[in-house]
Amino acid sequence: MRILSGIQPSGEAHLGNYFGAMRQHMALQGKGQGIFFIADYHSMTSVRDAALRRSLVQEVALDYLACGLDPERTVLYRQSDVPEVCELTWLLTSVTPMGLLERSHAYKDKVATGLPVDHGLFAYPVLMAADILIYNPELVPVGQDQKQHVEMTRDIAQRFDHAYGSEVFTLPEPHILEDVAVVPGVDGRKMSKSYDNTIRMFWPQKKLKKAVMSIVTDSTPVEEPKQTNTTVFQLWSLFASQEERKEMFARAEAGGLGYGDVKKAIFELLMDHFADMRARREDFEARPDDVEAILADGARRARELGAPVLEAARQAAGLGRP
Ligand code: ADP
Ligand code: TRP
Repeated sequence: MRILSGIQPSGEAHLGNYFGAMRQHMALQGKGQGIFFIADYHSMTSVRDAALRRSLVQEVALDYLACGLDPERTVLYRQSDVPEVCELTWLLTSVTPMGLLERSHAYKDKVATGLPVDHGLFAYPVLMAADILIYNPELVPVGQDQKQHVEMTRDIAQRFDHAYGSEVFTLPEPHILEDVAVVPGVDGRKMSKSYDNTIRMFWPQKKLKKAVMSIVTDSTPVEEPKQTNTTVFQLWSLFASQEERKEMFARAEAGGLGYGDVKKAIFELLMDHFADMRARREDFEARPDDVEAILADGARRARELGAPVLEAARQAAGLGRP
Protein backbone atom coordinates (compact mmCIF):
# COMPACT_ATOMS: atom_id res chain seq x y z
CA MET A 1 0.00 0.00 0.00
CA ARG A 2 1.27 3.48 -0.85
CA ILE A 3 0.80 6.17 1.77
CA LEU A 4 1.43 9.73 0.70
CA SER A 5 1.41 13.05 2.49
CA GLY A 6 2.78 16.54 1.93
CA ILE A 7 4.13 18.72 4.69
CA GLN A 8 4.06 22.49 4.52
CA PRO A 9 7.51 23.94 5.21
CA SER A 10 6.44 26.24 7.98
CA GLY A 11 9.49 26.28 10.24
CA GLU A 12 10.66 24.21 13.14
CA ALA A 13 7.94 21.90 14.47
CA HIS A 14 5.98 22.62 17.65
CA LEU A 15 4.13 20.31 20.03
CA GLY A 16 0.88 20.77 18.08
CA ASN A 17 2.54 19.57 14.86
CA TYR A 18 4.14 16.65 16.68
CA PHE A 19 1.06 15.28 18.43
CA GLY A 20 -1.38 16.35 15.68
CA ALA A 21 0.54 15.09 12.64
CA MET A 22 4.18 13.99 12.81
CA ARG A 23 3.78 11.25 15.37
CA GLN A 24 0.94 9.77 13.34
CA HIS A 25 2.90 10.02 10.09
CA MET A 26 5.73 8.10 11.74
CA ALA A 27 3.37 5.38 12.92
CA LEU A 28 2.12 4.85 9.36
CA GLN A 29 5.61 4.03 8.09
CA GLY A 30 5.21 0.40 9.06
CA LYS A 31 1.90 0.03 7.21
CA GLY A 32 3.14 0.38 3.64
CA GLN A 33 5.37 2.40 1.33
CA GLY A 34 5.43 5.87 2.91
CA ILE A 35 6.03 8.79 0.58
CA PHE A 36 6.42 12.13 2.36
CA PHE A 37 7.40 15.35 0.71
CA ILE A 38 8.16 18.87 1.82
CA ALA A 39 5.75 21.04 -0.11
CA ASP A 40 7.98 23.91 -1.23
CA TYR A 41 6.03 24.59 -4.44
CA HIS A 42 2.95 25.02 -2.26
CA SER A 43 4.81 27.43 0.01
CA MET A 44 5.21 29.81 -2.95
CA THR A 45 1.70 31.14 -2.40
CA SER A 46 2.77 32.52 0.97
CA VAL A 47 6.59 32.74 1.21
CA ARG A 48 8.32 35.14 -1.17
CA ASP A 49 11.83 34.94 0.27
CA ALA A 50 14.11 32.37 -1.38
CA ALA A 51 16.59 32.06 1.51
CA LEU A 52 13.73 31.70 3.97
CA ARG A 53 12.13 28.96 1.87
CA ARG A 54 15.38 26.99 1.84
CA SER A 55 15.81 27.26 5.58
CA LEU A 56 12.17 26.29 6.24
CA VAL A 57 12.59 23.18 4.09
CA GLN A 58 15.76 22.29 5.97
CA GLU A 59 13.99 22.57 9.35
CA VAL A 60 11.19 20.25 8.28
CA ALA A 61 13.66 17.68 6.95
CA LEU A 62 15.58 17.76 10.25
CA ASP A 63 12.40 17.49 12.32
CA TYR A 64 11.11 14.48 10.42
CA LEU A 65 14.45 12.69 10.50
CA ALA A 66 14.76 13.47 14.21
CA CYS A 67 11.28 12.16 14.94
CA GLY A 68 12.02 8.81 13.40
CA LEU A 69 11.42 8.97 9.67
CA ASP A 70 13.45 6.07 8.36
CA PRO A 71 14.96 7.15 5.03
CA GLU A 72 15.82 3.55 4.10
CA ARG A 73 12.20 2.53 4.17
CA THR A 74 10.29 5.75 3.61
CA VAL A 75 10.68 8.15 0.72
CA LEU A 76 11.31 11.74 1.88
CA TYR A 77 11.87 14.40 -0.71
CA ARG A 78 11.60 18.06 -1.54
CA GLN A 79 8.61 18.64 -3.83
CA SER A 80 10.54 20.85 -6.26
CA ASP A 81 13.03 18.03 -6.89
CA VAL A 82 10.22 16.26 -8.73
CA PRO A 83 9.16 18.91 -11.26
CA GLU A 84 7.08 16.31 -13.15
CA VAL A 85 4.35 17.17 -10.68
CA CYS A 86 4.02 20.56 -12.40
CA GLU A 87 3.49 18.85 -15.73
CA LEU A 88 0.76 16.65 -14.31
CA THR A 89 -0.78 19.78 -12.75
CA TRP A 90 -1.27 21.19 -16.24
CA LEU A 91 -2.90 18.02 -17.52
CA LEU A 92 -5.30 18.12 -14.58
CA THR A 93 -5.90 21.87 -14.72
CA SER A 94 -7.50 21.52 -18.13
CA VAL A 95 -10.20 19.18 -16.78
CA THR A 96 -10.84 21.09 -13.53
CA PRO A 97 -13.98 23.26 -13.50
CA MET A 98 -13.66 26.80 -12.12
CA GLY A 99 -16.66 26.11 -9.90
CA LEU A 100 -14.86 23.28 -8.13
CA LEU A 101 -11.96 25.55 -7.21
CA GLU A 102 -14.29 28.38 -6.22
CA ARG A 103 -15.78 26.11 -3.58
CA SER A 104 -12.41 25.52 -1.87
CA HIS A 105 -12.53 26.57 1.80
CA ALA A 106 -8.92 27.73 1.77
CA TYR A 107 -9.60 30.00 -1.19
CA LYS A 108 -12.91 31.32 0.18
CA ASP A 109 -11.32 32.02 3.57
CA LYS A 110 -8.54 34.01 1.97
CA VAL A 111 -10.98 35.99 -0.18
CA ALA A 112 -13.02 36.72 2.96
CA THR A 113 -10.00 38.36 4.60
CA GLY A 114 -10.04 40.96 1.82
CA LEU A 115 -6.35 40.32 1.11
CA PRO A 116 -5.30 40.00 -2.53
CA VAL A 117 -5.41 36.44 -3.89
CA ASP A 118 -3.29 35.15 -6.71
CA HIS A 119 -3.84 32.42 -9.24
CA GLY A 120 -1.43 30.14 -7.33
CA LEU A 121 -3.70 30.06 -4.32
CA PHE A 122 -6.76 29.52 -6.52
CA ALA A 123 -5.07 26.64 -8.35
CA TYR A 124 -3.50 25.14 -5.20
CA PRO A 125 -5.93 22.18 -5.08
CA VAL A 126 -4.89 21.12 -8.59
CA LEU A 127 -1.21 21.05 -7.63
CA MET A 128 -2.21 19.06 -4.58
CA ALA A 129 -4.20 16.66 -6.78
CA ALA A 130 -1.10 16.17 -8.95
CA ASP A 131 1.07 15.63 -5.84
CA ILE A 132 -1.20 12.79 -4.88
CA LEU A 133 -2.26 11.24 -8.18
CA ILE A 134 1.25 10.95 -9.60
CA TYR A 135 1.84 7.99 -7.26
CA ASN A 136 -1.69 6.56 -7.23
CA PRO A 137 -1.50 6.14 -3.43
CA GLU A 138 -4.24 4.30 -1.59
CA LEU A 139 -3.98 6.39 1.56
CA VAL A 140 -3.50 10.11 2.10
CA PRO A 141 -3.16 10.96 5.81
CA VAL A 142 -4.18 14.56 6.40
CA GLY A 143 -5.70 16.77 9.06
CA GLN A 144 -9.43 17.52 8.93
CA ASP A 145 -8.71 20.87 7.25
CA GLN A 146 -7.29 19.07 4.18
CA LYS A 147 -10.12 16.61 3.68
CA GLN A 148 -11.84 18.78 1.10
CA HIS A 149 -8.65 18.91 -0.95
CA VAL A 150 -8.46 15.11 -1.08
CA GLU A 151 -12.11 14.97 -2.13
CA MET A 152 -11.35 17.49 -4.90
CA THR A 153 -8.48 15.24 -5.94
CA ARG A 154 -10.88 12.33 -6.38
CA ASP A 155 -13.20 14.52 -8.43
CA ILE A 156 -10.37 15.77 -10.66
CA ALA A 157 -9.06 12.22 -11.19
CA GLN A 158 -12.49 11.03 -12.30
CA ARG A 159 -12.90 13.96 -14.65
CA PHE A 160 -9.58 13.24 -16.33
CA ASP A 161 -10.32 9.57 -16.84
CA HIS A 162 -13.82 10.37 -18.02
CA ALA A 163 -12.58 12.99 -20.49
CA TYR A 164 -10.04 10.61 -22.07
CA GLY A 165 -11.87 7.34 -21.57
CA SER A 166 -8.87 6.14 -19.59
CA GLU A 167 -8.16 4.41 -16.28
CA VAL A 168 -5.02 6.20 -15.28
CA PHE A 169 -5.84 7.14 -11.71
CA THR A 170 -6.71 5.31 -8.51
CA LEU A 171 -9.08 7.24 -6.27
CA PRO A 172 -7.22 8.04 -3.04
CA GLU A 173 -8.88 7.73 0.36
CA PRO A 174 -8.37 10.54 2.83
CA HIS A 175 -7.12 9.08 6.11
CA ILE A 176 -8.07 11.69 8.66
CA LEU A 177 -5.43 11.85 11.32
CA GLU A 178 -6.76 10.81 14.67
CA ASP A 179 -8.37 13.85 16.15
CA VAL A 180 -6.02 14.41 19.03
CA ALA A 181 -7.53 17.12 21.15
CA VAL A 182 -6.14 20.38 19.82
CA VAL A 183 -2.86 21.09 21.58
CA PRO A 184 -3.14 24.47 23.31
CA GLY A 185 -0.40 27.07 23.10
CA VAL A 186 1.12 28.89 26.08
CA ASP A 187 -1.68 31.50 25.93
CA GLY A 188 -4.45 28.89 25.92
CA ARG A 189 -5.47 29.34 22.27
CA LYS A 190 -4.71 26.60 19.70
CA MET A 191 -0.94 26.22 19.46
CA SER A 192 0.03 27.76 16.13
CA LYS A 193 3.00 29.58 14.75
CA SER A 194 0.62 32.31 13.59
CA TYR A 195 -0.30 33.06 17.21
CA ASP A 196 3.29 33.10 18.42
CA ASN A 197 2.29 30.85 21.31
CA THR A 198 4.25 27.71 20.46
CA ILE A 199 6.44 25.38 22.44
CA ARG A 200 9.06 23.96 20.10
CA MET A 201 10.39 20.77 21.55
CA PHE A 202 13.82 21.18 19.97
CA TRP A 203 14.47 24.65 21.30
CA PRO A 204 17.63 25.03 23.44
CA GLN A 205 16.89 24.07 27.05
CA LYS A 206 16.81 27.59 28.40
CA LYS A 207 14.41 28.87 25.79
CA LEU A 208 12.23 25.81 26.17
CA LYS A 209 12.07 26.28 29.93
CA LYS A 210 11.14 29.93 29.53
CA ALA A 211 8.30 28.99 27.17
CA VAL A 212 6.99 26.34 29.57
CA MET A 213 7.14 28.77 32.50
CA SER A 214 5.08 31.27 30.46
CA ILE A 215 2.06 28.93 30.16
CA VAL A 216 -1.04 30.82 31.35
CA THR A 217 -2.54 29.89 34.71
CA ASP A 218 -5.13 31.56 36.91
CA SER A 219 -4.34 33.03 40.32
CA THR A 220 -5.70 30.22 42.49
CA PRO A 221 -3.42 30.03 45.56
CA VAL A 222 -1.28 26.90 45.97
CA GLU A 223 -3.33 25.42 48.79
CA GLU A 224 -6.65 25.62 46.94
CA PRO A 225 -8.11 23.02 44.51
CA LYS A 226 -7.26 23.53 40.82
CA GLN A 227 -9.36 23.18 37.67
CA THR A 228 -7.85 20.40 35.57
CA ASN A 229 -9.43 21.27 32.23
CA THR A 230 -6.95 24.12 31.87
CA THR A 231 -4.01 24.73 29.54
CA VAL A 232 -1.29 23.71 31.95
CA PHE A 233 -2.92 20.35 32.73
CA GLN A 234 -3.79 19.75 29.06
CA LEU A 235 -0.15 20.20 28.11
CA TRP A 236 1.03 17.99 30.94
CA SER A 237 -1.51 15.33 29.92
CA LEU A 238 0.12 14.93 26.49
CA PHE A 239 2.82 12.91 28.20
CA ALA A 240 0.79 11.10 30.81
CA SER A 241 -0.92 7.72 30.93
CA GLN A 242 -4.50 7.31 32.06
CA GLU A 243 -3.26 6.22 35.48
CA GLU A 244 -0.86 9.13 35.89
CA ARG A 245 -3.59 11.54 34.87
CA LYS A 246 -5.95 10.19 37.47
CA GLU A 247 -3.37 10.57 40.17
CA MET A 248 -2.32 14.08 39.15
CA PHE A 249 -5.91 15.30 38.82
CA ALA A 250 -6.72 13.95 42.27
CA ARG A 251 -3.78 15.90 43.68
CA ALA A 252 -4.92 19.03 41.83
CA GLU A 253 -8.45 18.74 43.15
CA ALA A 254 -7.25 18.17 46.70
CA GLY A 255 -5.34 21.46 46.79
CA GLY A 256 -1.70 21.98 47.70
CA LEU A 257 -0.37 21.48 44.18
CA GLY A 258 1.26 24.61 42.74
CA TYR A 259 1.18 25.48 39.03
CA GLY A 260 4.94 25.99 39.19
CA ASP A 261 5.37 22.30 40.03
CA VAL A 262 3.21 21.22 37.10
CA LYS A 263 5.25 23.43 34.79
CA LYS A 264 8.49 21.97 36.11
CA ALA A 265 7.06 18.53 35.47
CA ILE A 266 6.15 19.51 31.89
CA PHE A 267 9.66 20.77 31.26
CA GLU A 268 11.20 17.56 32.58
CA LEU A 269 8.80 15.43 30.54
CA LEU A 270 9.70 17.41 27.41
CA MET A 271 13.42 16.96 27.97
CA ASP A 272 12.92 13.29 28.63
CA HIS A 273 10.40 12.43 25.90
CA PHE A 274 12.36 14.19 23.17
CA ALA A 275 15.89 13.38 24.39
CA ASP A 276 16.72 10.81 21.70
CA MET A 277 15.02 12.84 18.99
CA ARG A 278 16.89 15.95 20.07
CA ALA A 279 20.21 14.08 19.88
CA ARG A 280 19.34 12.72 16.45
CA ARG A 281 18.39 16.20 15.25
CA GLU A 282 21.66 17.66 16.46
CA ASP A 283 23.52 14.87 14.73
CA PHE A 284 21.77 15.47 11.38
CA GLU A 285 22.12 19.20 11.77
CA ALA A 286 25.89 18.77 11.86
CA ARG A 287 25.75 16.76 8.61
CA PRO A 288 23.81 18.91 6.12
CA ASP A 289 25.33 17.04 3.16
CA ASP A 290 23.92 13.77 4.44
CA VAL A 291 20.48 15.34 4.82
CA GLU A 292 20.75 16.63 1.26
CA ALA A 293 21.75 13.13 0.10
CA ILE A 294 18.67 11.66 1.79
CA LEU A 295 16.42 14.19 0.04
CA ALA A 296 18.15 13.55 -3.30
CA ASP A 297 17.75 9.81 -2.94
CA GLY A 298 14.10 10.34 -1.95
CA ALA A 299 13.51 12.43 -5.08
CA ARG A 300 15.12 9.77 -7.26
CA ARG A 301 12.86 7.08 -5.82
CA ALA A 302 9.79 9.35 -6.03
CA ARG A 303 10.46 10.05 -9.72
CA GLU A 304 10.71 6.33 -10.38
CA LEU A 305 7.40 5.72 -8.61
CA GLY A 306 5.67 8.58 -10.41
CA ALA A 307 7.02 8.13 -13.94
CA PRO A 308 4.65 5.36 -15.11
CA VAL A 309 1.54 7.26 -13.97
CA LEU A 310 2.64 10.49 -15.63
CA GLU A 311 3.46 8.63 -18.84
CA ALA A 312 0.07 6.91 -18.79
CA ALA A 313 -1.64 10.28 -18.37
CA ARG A 314 0.38 11.76 -21.25
CA GLN A 315 -0.49 8.84 -23.50
CA ALA A 316 -4.17 8.96 -22.53
CA ALA A 317 -4.26 12.65 -23.46
CA GLY A 318 -2.33 12.13 -26.72
CA LEU A 319 0.74 14.04 -25.61
CA GLY A 320 4.33 13.35 -26.63
CA ARG A 321 5.68 10.51 -28.70
CA PRO A 322 3.11 7.70 -29.06
P1 ADP B 1 0.47 26.03 12.33
O1 ADP B 1 -0.93 26.22 12.86
O2 ADP B 1 1.50 26.25 13.37
O3 ADP B 1 0.71 26.84 11.09
P2 ADP B 1 0.32 23.82 10.49
O4 ADP B 1 -0.94 24.34 9.92
O5 ADP B 1 1.56 23.94 9.65
O6 ADP B 1 0.59 24.50 11.91
O7 ADP B 1 0.09 22.32 10.94
C1 ADP B 1 0.66 21.18 10.37
C2 ADP B 1 -0.03 19.95 10.94
O8 ADP B 1 0.03 19.96 12.38
C3 ADP B 1 -1.50 19.88 10.59
O9 ADP B 1 -1.76 18.55 10.14
C4 ADP B 1 -2.27 20.14 11.85
O10 ADP B 1 -3.39 19.32 11.93
C5 ADP B 1 -1.27 19.81 12.95
N1 ADP B 1 -1.42 20.81 14.04
C6 ADP B 1 -0.98 22.09 14.03
N2 ADP B 1 -1.26 22.73 15.18
C7 ADP B 1 -1.90 21.82 15.96
C8 ADP B 1 -2.43 21.89 17.30
N3 ADP B 1 -2.35 22.98 18.04
N4 ADP B 1 -3.02 20.76 17.78
C9 ADP B 1 -3.11 19.63 17.04
N5 ADP B 1 -2.60 19.52 15.79
C10 ADP B 1 -2.01 20.59 15.23
N1 TRP C 1 -1.97 21.24 1.57
C1 TRP C 1 -1.38 20.46 2.63
C2 TRP C 1 -1.33 21.33 3.93
O1 TRP C 1 -1.49 22.53 3.86
C3 TRP C 1 0.02 20.01 2.28
C4 TRP C 1 0.00 19.15 1.05
C5 TRP C 1 0.38 19.52 -0.19
C6 TRP C 1 -0.47 17.81 0.96
N2 TRP C 1 0.23 18.50 -1.08
C7 TRP C 1 -0.31 17.44 -0.40
C8 TRP C 1 -1.00 16.92 1.89
C9 TRP C 1 -0.67 16.16 -0.83
C10 TRP C 1 -1.38 15.64 1.43
C11 TRP C 1 -1.21 15.27 0.08
O2 TRP C 1 -1.11 20.78 4.99
